[in-house]
Amino acid sequence: MGEKKTNQLKDSGAAMPRRRFLQAGLAGSALAATGALGGAKSAAAAGLDIPDWSRQLGASVDDAPYGKPSHHESSVIRRSVEWLTATRESSVNFTPLYALEGFVTPNGICFERHHGGAADVDPVEHRLMIHGMVDRPLLFTMEDLLRLPRVSRFFFLECAANGGMEWRNAQLNGVQFTHGMIHCVQYTGVSLKLLLEEAGVSTKAKWLMVEGGDSAGMNRSVPIDKALDDCMVAFAMNGEKLRAEQGYPLRLVVPGFEGNMWVKWLRRIEVGDESWQAREETSKYTDLMPDGRARRFTWEMDCKSVITSPCPENPLTHKGPNVISGLAWSGRGNVKRVDVSLDGGKNWVEARIEGPVMPKCLTRFYLDGWEWDGSEVYMQSRAIDDTGYVQPQMTALQKVRGINSIYHNNAIQTWFVNKTGEVENVRLA
Ligand code: MTE
Ligand code: CO
Repeated sequence: MGEKKTNQLKDSGAAMPRRRFLQAGLAGSALAATGALGGAKSAAAAGLDIPDWSRQLGASVDDAPYGKPSHHESSVIRRSVEWLTATRESSVNFTPLYALEGFVTPNGICFERHHGGAADVDPVEHRLMIHGMVDRPLLFTMEDLLRLPRVSRFFFLECAANGGMEWRNAQLNGVQFTHGMIHCVQYTGVSLKLLLEEAGVSTKAKWLMVEGGDSAGMNRSVPIDKALDDCMVAFAMNGEKLRAEQGYPLRLVVPGFEGNMWVKWLRRIEVGDESWQAREETSKYTDLMPDGRARRFTWEMDCKSVITSPCPENPLTHKGPNVISGLAWSGRGNVKRVDVSLDGGKNWVEARIEGPVMPKCLTRFYLDGWEWDGSEVYMQSRAIDDTGYVQPQMTALQKVRGINSIYHNNAIQTWFVNKTGEVENVRLA
């Protein structure tokens, strides 16, 4: 791994007075970088002349009836890893976390995971059936659902396999690929509890079997306690109808639980009793342990975080003050605190949390004005949730879980920043 160099934590943004940040940092480096005070040719480079876009009319209001990001941002897209899956339909792509701000994922770049391709469902034909151990089996059209009281909530969805390729060693060089099987949007829909109460669920009910309308069906079991707690049947995300690839016209929202239970193109919910415990779909995803046994029912996503800038896609380009930024989350509730280390986990400094902190939702953190002096840094973030759980180092996690599983890797991520500012995914012993 080579010799580790330590950047002094006392120089970091948390302790830095604001005045020094402005003087020593932004103003000075901006002018120096553009050379605006230097030669005559520098006016254009400094943006001080009048560019073409200021001299002519812009696009018409009819040019983009449904808008897209600026074409200058065309590289900010979902990406897949070619060798990862045998087919493109039963596959996954990844959210470009390195390019995102705040905690909301724009609809067009939410990662996709399908087992049988994204179904194209006609909302007029679509039905949701609720049956099994209920007093009144029900069949809903989309119009029926839209006449029921609705709720809007922000939640993250993380695939249980997020970081699955990183269990044995640092493998993929980009936060998009190490952590990008996650998105966070505002869902609007009907509470599942309300629908189950309409149907009159038996007191003996223990499980739901939920089914999608795609070719995979994706039958999954959801424990009744969770179903009656905070699950939703959602038809909208971030203010508009679900995207086809996210389950249009209807998906199950299972806050804090692994993504595979969030059945898309939702068409059927069957209610069953405890005899269903042994059914195959109750334990579809299991985590193979070092001794050959497997963990089951590991639905809740453990507390986790990652630095999204700097990262392999966002190298450091300037010495002096820099912003460290990242995301933290917990499937068990709120993120309580996030710490950042610049020396591979020996010393930690508390990051600043920006924006709302909501349960089972992504939370943005910052370390402002961190002075980079051009030396090598082993950068980490560590999240703590309101149950008191502390995100573990990979070595500690491996001691308990081994390296055979591909699921539920919530270990601390290490980014190595070299002297030229490039950032690499590394594993510390
Ligand atoms: N639902 C159906 N019907 N079919 C699927 O293949 N994939 C599941 C889940 N729901 C899947 C599904 C898995 S494994 C995950 S991680 C999430 O959907 C991914 O949701 P997304 O595509 O909105 O990111
Ligand atoms: Co998944």
